[in-house]
Amino acid sequence: DDAYLITHALAKDTLLRLRDVETTQVAFRKGLVKLGRICGYEIIDGAMETEYVTVQTPLTETTGERVKGLDDVVIINVLRAATPFVEGLLKAFPRAKQGVISAGRDEEAGMDEEGEFPITIDYVKLPEITEKDTVIVADPMLATGSTMCAVLDHVLSNAEAEPTDLFVLSAVSAPDGLLRVGDQFPEADLLTVSIDDHLDEDGYIIPGLGDAGDRAFR
Ligand code: PRP
Repeated sequence: DDAYLITHALAKDTLLRLRDVETTQVAFRKGLVKLGRICGYEIIDGAMETEYVTVQTPLTETTGERVKGLDDVVIINVLRAATPFVEGLLKAFPRAKQGVISAGRDEEAGMDEEGEFPITIDYVKLPEITEKDTVIVADPMLATGSTMCAVLDHVLSNAEAEPTDLFVLSAVSAPDGLLRVGDQFPEADLLTVSIDDHLDEDGYIIPGLGDAGDRAFR
């Protein structure tokens, strides 16, 4: 249940532009796609094994490294803000299976004393998850962690087996959310580009980047 920072300079550069209030809808969406791609490459570099294989070039036979497990990746798209983020991830994992889950905070109910939101789940369509799979649950924002906990409950209780690896990937996260998800799902590795300062009384990440769903879709 460790939290890892994605420290690639381009990830930080892209996140900076996503935070900027002047960034337009088109640039915001493209930025999320780009960040998803970088995060995908970082997951491959940091967490996936390679193996040596022989290859025939047009001139001779030689050896090279191949990433293991690229055929056994499942990416879960937490609607709706994760859609452009997942589009980027798919550039790093082109053969991934995809799951879709629509989960949203009930903003009217507000945050309870525990700092949690009630979560409404409307639509769930998940591929088969086996013990061979690397599962990446992507959502650009991890605030209170309420959404992610509800999503992981669904994903894990419907999985055929426990996956080899379970990654929770966010662009910006709050300490509260990381703690909540880490506590409830110790088997998950939490990956994020930034651990921000705190949550405000409405459960928004500060400094954050605003509402990623609204900024990408409206
Ligand atoms: C946002 C965000 C996460 C969630 C994080 O979604 O995309 O899914 O809030 O908050 P939490 O960690 O406190 O649960 P939102 O509910 O605004 O839905 P949207 O993506 O459809 O805009």
